[in-house]
Amino acid sequence: MAARSNSVDMYSQIDTDMPALEHAAQGVAPALTTPAYVIDLRTLDKVVRRIESVCNTVGCSFLYSLKASAIQPVVEVISKYTDGFACSSPFEARYARTIANAGQTVHLTSPGIRPQDIDQINRYCNFVTFNSVEQVRGLRRRLAPSIAAGLRINPEQSFLRDSRYDPCRTGSKLGVPLSALREASGKGRLLSGGLRGLHFHSNCDSMHLGDLRQTVDAIADSTPELLESVDWLNMGGGYLLNEINDLSTFATIVDILRRTFDLQVMVEPGAAVVRNSGVLVASVVDCTEIDGNKVAVLDTTVNHWPEVFEFQFEPDVQGHIEGSRYTYQLVGCSCLAGDVFGTYSFTDPLEIGSCIVFENAGAYSIVKAHMFNGINLPTVYIVTESGELVLTKQFTYEDFASRCGVDTRATV
Ligand SMILES: Cc1ncc(COP(=O)(O)O)c(C=O)c1O
Repeated sequence: MAARSNSVDMYSQIDTDMPALEHAAQGVAPALTTPAYVIDLRTLDKVVRRIESVCNTVGCSFLYSLKASAIQPVVEVISKYTDGFACSSPFEARYARTIANAGQTVHLTSPGIRPQDIDQINRYCNFVTFNSVEQVRGLRRRLAPSIAAGLRINPEQSFLRDSRYDPCRTGSKLGVPLSALREASGKGRLLSGGLRGLHFHSNCDSMHLGDLRQTVDAIADSTPELLESVDWLNMGGGYLLNEINDLSTFATIVDILRRTFDLQVMVEPGAAVVRNSGVLVASVVDCTEIDGNKVAVLDTTVNHWPEVFEFQFEPDVQGHIEGSRYTYQLVGCSCLAGDVFGTYSFTDPLEIGSCIVFENAGAYSIVKAHMFNGINLPTVYIVTESGELVLTKQFTYEDFASRCGVDTRATV
């Protein structure tokens, strides 16, 4: 069979009918139940170490953006190497606080901080970044004195072709436009209200640190007084610090910010930290031919990795070799016509029960997945430091039912 476990031994243990827990109960080596997210903590550890070392070398604080993956064993590994966590909501902040040690800081940035959440924010956060001048006016004074408050700015430097994902597009809701701050500065009004920091986030999956340099230069050249007026600058995420070999530009940027403006500089990567350590494993449940093309229906769906649909990208699949004899469209099992992963070729035919492994699925997959059509979420497994496959979370009918408000005591 084509894609079955060429490179990862444990996938040969797959049994799509028998829940992994049953295997364990029978004393059999734990098998994977598909669909499954499998996260290799050994890969994760290597990647986080590298990013930590990069940040240490250049003199920049390393926060992890929880939004990319919040699975507890994952966050625990990451936590060994970070200065803190970047959060987008009170829930994430509360969770981060349960993981963070006394020396680690919890940071919150959101375009929609609600007055009724301020008490929680005061409890869990060390840094809070407001998204607008109005939010500063309305909420800043309600923050605990120990919290360092900042303002998100839109540096108005766009690098992304798809404007839906461009936080710096014209008219973006994310942050105060730099031009507006420049104008305020010209009129003798700049940051007030006890703001001590600035935040921007301007890219996505970028290998080009020149973009970051351009962003920082745009602020430093046009409105240096802005950087002079604060203590810290959070440069967001969006750069694949795990994959970029030449980091000299990053070092220069941080050096300028530290030496010229005396700033504490932070980054908060997400995808760079977790993407490479996760795979999504599925089984073929049907093989058919439509309009002369072979189609393999999987027991997963793009809703288990919504960015496949949102960005319309074809994830890498183990065993796919361009031009191989057996070509299939791999599709998900939901009612959505566009629930399609892509077209892949294998050296051997697929059959019902064949295993498909989508690579680099560790970021923005589990956190965004949902149960549309009542299709259960993939089971989560981790591969431990010693190479053991451990079931971390299995979702059940009760998870689905509770979100529907069903009283499961009354179910059959
Ligand atoms: C404010 C902010 N910080 C950090 C990140 C993490 O970005 P990435 O996962 O691309 O590193 C995001 C992603 O959307 C973001 O919006």
